[in-house]
This record gives sequence, C-alpha cells and structure tokens, in this order.
Amino acid sequence: MKKKSIENVQLADKRVFMRADFNVPVKDGVIGDDTRIQATIPTIKYILDKKPKRLVISSHLGRPDGKVVPEMSLAPVAKRLAEILGLDVAMMPDCVGDEVKAKLEALPEGGIALLENVRFHAEETSKVEAEVDSLAKQFGEFADVFIGDAFGSAHRAHASVCNVAKFVDEAAAGFLLKKEIDYLIGAIEAPERPFVAILGGAKISGKIDVISNLLGKVDSILIGGAMAYTFLKAMGIEVGKSLVEEDRIELAKETLEKAKSAGKELILPTDHLVAAACEAGQATQATEGQAIPADMVAVDIGPKTVELYKSKVGAAKTVVWNGPMGVFEIEGFNGGTIAVAEALAASSATSIVGGGDSVSAVKKAGVADKMTHISTGGGASLELLEGKVLPGLAALDEA
Ligand code: 3PG
Repeated sequence: MKKKSIENVQLADKRVFMRADFNVPVKDGVIGDDTRIQATIPTIKYILDKKPKRLVISSHLGRPDGKVVPEMSLAPVAKRLAEILGLDVAMMPDCVGDEVKAKLEALPEGGIALLENVRFHAEETSKVEAEVDSLAKQFGEFADVFIGDAFGSAHRAHASVCNVAKFVDEAAAGFLLKKEIDYLIGAIEAPERPFVAILGGAKISGKIDVISNLLGKVDSILIGGAMAYTFLKAMGIEVGKSLVEEDRIELAKETLEKAKSAGKELILPTDHLVAAACEAGQATQATEGQAIPADMVAVDIGPKTVELYKSKVGAAKTVVWNGPMGVFEIEGFNGGTIAVAEALAASSATSIVGGGDSVSAVKKAGVADKMTHISTGGGASLELLEGKVLPGLAALDEA
C-alpha cells in the first residue's frame, strides 16, 4: 500500500501531531547519543516552515510500564531539541489531560511542544484495542494532522504510533520514515546486483526469518557471529566450546539445504579467532580452517574469513548488514566486525546498516558517514528484513 507523504499534506494553520522515536540513551539527565533526535530534524524543520498552528511531538523513552518513572522523562530531549533547533520547545507535564490541553492552547502561533513519555500511560502499549484507542482519541482531540516519523517504533502497535491515525483528519509519513522504507524495502526489493547480505549475531533463532526472507532476494549471505557455529556443527564440523544452539541444528541443516536448492551462496567463516575462554583479556589465535579445537571457544571470524568477506563486499553493488561478526563488546574480539565496517566504507556499493551492534561498529570504526543508510531502528529494521508488515507503517497506508 502507498503511504501519503508529508509533502502531500496541508500543514499551514494545522495542529500537527508528530510521533518521533526519541528513545535515546539518557543517564543522569544527559543524552549519550542524539542520533535519533538529529534524524528527525528534517521533518521537524519542514513542518515548521509550513507555518502550522503548532507542532506537538510525542515519543516514548524506555519501558516504564504504564507508570511515571522520573528517570524516563523526555525533559532532556526537549532541551536537546531546543538547542539543535535554536527555538523554544515547551516540555509538557504529561502527554494528555486538561493541563496539557490548556498549555498547548497557550503556545504561541507556530510553537513547538514535546509531550511527556507516552508510556507513562498503560493504554499506550495495551493489548486491548479499546484501551489503545482511548488514549489515541485523546491525542486526536488536539490534532488535525498526524505525521508518523518514529521508524524505530514502527513495529509496535501502540496508540501514538498507529491508532492516533484514526482520530485525525489526515495522516502521513515523515522524511525519516520514508527514507528508512526507501532503503530497507526499496533497495532490497529492487537491488543492484550482486546483492550481498552480511548477517551476524549470537543466535540462529533471532535471524532465521531474516535469512529465509533474504535468501529469495540476495545473491550471497555471509554469516558471522556465534550463529555460524550452529551451522558448522550442523555440517558435522568440530566447534569446540563455542556457543551452539543445539535445538536449532536441524533448522540450520534445513536452511543450508534451502540455500543450496535456491542456488544461493550461504557462506560460513573459513577460519576463526579462538580463545581459551570468552572473557576480556584472553589471548587469541587464528585457526587453520573451519574446525575449532575441542578446548577452545571461537570469539570472532578469522583473518582468512575477513579477506573472503572483504572480497565479497568489494564486488557487491548492494550490501545489507545486520549483526556483529564476533563478541563485539569485548576489546580484542571485535576486529572482524570492524574490518567488515571498513570494507563496507571502502566499497562503492549501496550500503544499508541496521541493528544496534552493527551501527555501533560503523561508528567505532569511524566510517558512519561512508554508509549509504544507517537505520535508526533496531527491532523495526530486523522485522522489515524478515519481510514483516510493520503496524506503524500499515497505519499510514492510504485507504
Ligand atoms: C527501540 O529502541 O528499538 C525502539 O525505540 C522501540 O523500543 P521498545 O523495544 O521498547 O518498544
């Protein structure tokens, strides 16, 4: 279905309600990484340029479970937003209610307000549709137009993400949402080939739907992270003390068969970096081949695999990357992941990066600005790669 774009909506003199994903790391009132705030600025500036009556922005922060948790207040975000925009951003004491309504009415013409964390109300995330609607309806009472721009939350069927669209005159997608859809759906459905997916992470169970969906679209899938060891064990290769999902070995066998019959390359590490234990400070060594010594644990892809994956990335025209190649959080076990980030930066392929750890890796490698698209969504980007319909996107589909 086609979504209405913000560019096709009349915003002048309208009461605009925008959902952003400002779920950013906050510690002691200080924002650690404001990427998600910066990513919504084009949409906010566009709305303000159109001279709305006012712009009200909503978001969640953390998982307060329907209770007021002061540490999860969005007040630090209002402050940061005001600094970035160079404008006043009125922080509301709640997200609905008479006091909020009165404060919104008192805003100057074209003013901006940030509502307090929508998840302080249990109805935001309720499983009961009528409860979700009851909160969404209250948002609708102070809005004419809904702009959905919270890609990171698009996989959540929540009041401020989805249901609010039912209680306004018009609903449309903001620029961030549109950009994420263009890359995570557009580039994948009609990729320039060769199209290579790099998938990492600890568990096959978390990535199997992504592998299944992408097998139908890509030319090759490069596997890294601990899920590689479950595949290797399924092939009868010794994996030592490495992490293996014993109950997924059959699934791994089926997936290897599926790839073979589809004529797609599912490439596993040809060597590994191993250590005596998966702990910081442990010495590492590279294996000769795919087998891992019985008393060792694999912690990263090995140097030969790095070269192989670099050559695949170098020859690709489109690359999607989700998940680290090794135990990325431990210094000394993150070289494979960093090398993949650098290979992507050096390639001329359209590079699409999704998922928390791969995003941290491109930032750590200092190559974030060399990627074509870095998704602001962790769970949401994964679900799109699984081929799922996200409720937050479906809510914006034109009837
Ligand atoms: C995220 O950080 O992935 C999104 O903001 C969604 O948060 P949630 O997993 O708490 O719904």
